[in-house]
Amino acid sequence: MEINNDVIQRAAEIIQRGGIVAFPTETVYGLGADAFNPLAVARIFEVKRRPHFDPLIVHVANPADVKNLVKEIPPDTQKLIGHFWPGPLTVVLLKEEDIPDIVTAGLPTVAIRMPNHPMALSLIRESKCPIAAPSANPFGYLSPTTAEHVQEQLDDQVDLILDGGPCPVGVESTILSFSEEKPRLLRPGGVSLEEIESIIGKVEVHPIREERPHAPGMLPRHYAPRTPILLDWDKKDLDHYKGKKIGFLTFREPLNNLKFSHGEVLSKKGDLREAAANLFAAIRRLDTLNLDLILAESVPEVGLGRAIMDRLRRASQSLTFPPLGGCVTIGKNG
Ligand code: TXA
Ligand code: MG
Repeated sequence: MEINNDVIQRAAEIIQRGGIVAFPTETVYGLGADAFNPLAVARIFEVKRRPHFDPLIVHVANPADVKNLVKEIPPDTQKLIGHFWPGPLTVVLLKEEDIPDIVTAGLPTVAIRMPNHPMALSLIRESKCPIAAPSANPFGYLSPTTAEHVQEQLDDQVDLILDGGPCPVGVESTILSFSEEKPRLLRPGGVSLEEIESIIGKVEVHPIREERPHAPGMLPRHYAPRTPILLDWDKKDLDHYKGKKIGFLTFREPLNNLKFSHGEVLSKKGDLREAAANLFAAIRRLDTLNLDLILAESVPEVGLGRAIMDRLRRASQSLTFPPLGGCVTIGKNG
């Protein structure tokens, strides 16, 4: 990818002066600030309308930078970093004291990753600081996978948007916590569980039930469009939706049914990586059509399919069949 150094330089100056910059990563676009500038980080929370209990991921440009941010790096973490960085794996470790509380929401841990995108890496290097960044979307909504997505929702509120084209992975990073005895998967994402377990053996996959969620990406309803999404539905019940404006989101085959005027197929070849890369943009397109409902099809829950199903379940939370007819209310995402 051709990178315009002047633009990166300008972006880095904004970060150094305490501003906020939207930038591409291989997973989704992030909204970044100097991780050691609490006021700059506070602005990210404001712009996203993100609750302060939800900590941010700190992005580094070099694996060696991790040791300044954490107490220690367990051997399994080191192995995974060696295999998957730069890439869509975030590790949660016991933090060093000087990381501002606003970044970690007061937790004793910090989430860190090294993104695999030339623009993100140049930006971090030129800014000369780790960059704290959530996905560049209003809280609760789908993550952006193009610069246009960011522009549509946050344009006038950020200091600069770096355009690196569509994000190749398309779902957020996998988050793995090393804060307990055994590694625990907090969020399935761009590196599959199978890949991780092939390097360090079995990891815990069940979230701990807590009032204050470990990762609000783990909140039941999250990553959601405005249009209700229904995941568990049956082709034989389609008559129920007569007269409604329905869109469908299928894995590999279009639904040949005239009741559906709008359809998105995630991967004609049935490739889960391609499906993940298309997921959020496809849902966003459906979400602009003023549909009554989106019917989404399940994908096989292996490899990246686990991250796709996680996002679809959260996007469709609180909807059960039949979702139309006035009995279901869905709050605006906040
Ligand atoms: O791919 C990604 O991870 C993207 C790109 C921009 O890097 N970032 C992203 O950030 O998805 P965000 O903020 O939308 O999601 C980060 C998740 C949140 O659910 C947050 O709760 C969790 O990471 N998290 C951050 N720090 C944590 C910590 N110390 N312990 C547990 N979870 C943490
Ligand atoms: Mg997010």
